[in-house]
Amino acid sequence: MGSTILLAASGLTPVTADSPNAERIEDLYWVLCAIAGLVLLSVAVPLVLFVFRYRSRGRDRTIEGPQIHGATRLELAWTLVPIGLLVIALAFTFYKLPGITLEAQAGERELEIRVEGRQFYWQYEYPNGAIAIDKLRAPANTLVKLVITAPDSDVQHSYWVPGLGGKFDAIPGETNDTSFKAKVGVYKGQCAEFCGTQHAAMLAEIEVIPVDEFDSWLEQEAEAQEAGDSDLGEEEFLGACTKCHGPQGEGLVGPGLSSASVSDAENVAQIVRNGRGRMPAVGEEWDDRQMDALTSYLRKRFAEEGQSGG
Ligand code: CUA
Repeated sequence: MGSTILLAASGLTPVTADSPNAERIEDLYWVLCAIAGLVLLSVAVPLVLFVFRYRSRGRDRTIEGPQIHGATRLELAWTLVPIGLLVIALAFTFYKLPGITLEAQAGERELEIRVEGRQFYWQYEYPNGAIAIDKLRAPANTLVKLVITAPDSDVQHSYWVPGLGGKFDAIPGETNDTSFKAKVGVYKGQCAEFCGTQHAAMLAEIEVIPVDEFDSWLEQEAEAQEAGDSDLGEEEFLGACTKCHGPQGEGLVGPGLSSASVSDAENVAQIVRNGRGRMPAVGEEWDDRQMDALTSYLRKRFAEEGQSGG
């Protein structure tokens, strides 16, 4: 128990599970960890003891040790005990595995959200068409199903919010499903598949809020995006642009942005859709609403900076 607390305190253990499926993964972790610990101790402790107890202590190097042939009980033990441990590990794993994907009960509400991994951001699409970047909002105590994929032209990513479940690959042209059901809170995640220069910046966040609050937010958000009056442009700038062009667009692994380079919306849209040089086609499948949100945000943002001398 003491070592458990020590491990947890040093950040070496999994984060606390906050979704029923994630709890199963956590249980598995601890049981397998205990079995592995037992094996480690049963090998390492005798090894160290024997090194001291049976060392040769200056006897002649040519003297041979006692020649022992056969120890049936010992041989049976070191065969059967490992088999027993493996059977326990296997049985417990297969007992826990089926619940790793949550299924909706009859009549239970299920919200399906599409998650796309892209270099280097996460794009979410809600059932009513509203889009979010990197940060997902979700209703509390509701079954949320994530359909995880990536555009054909992109690379493989892996969606991982440890508190709410395991890793799920975002593979171009394929879909993987997972689900969660969580209490109100903020859950942090990270792309878990090396996907290029800014892989480390590909963070995800799920903010779980009360159901009423979520429903009204989602409705308003979809209307605002439709009307071109939302924060989508800023979200896109932060998610899709700043990872390479710097937090202020001052340049990082990609060149700096200026009012001159972003003022031509047609040109920006063309580059964002097709990529250029080392820049991936970050907005290849964006619809006009998404593209307009970005180009008008960029024009506004960099025009303001130009006036203030920044
Ligand atoms: Cu996406 Cu690593």
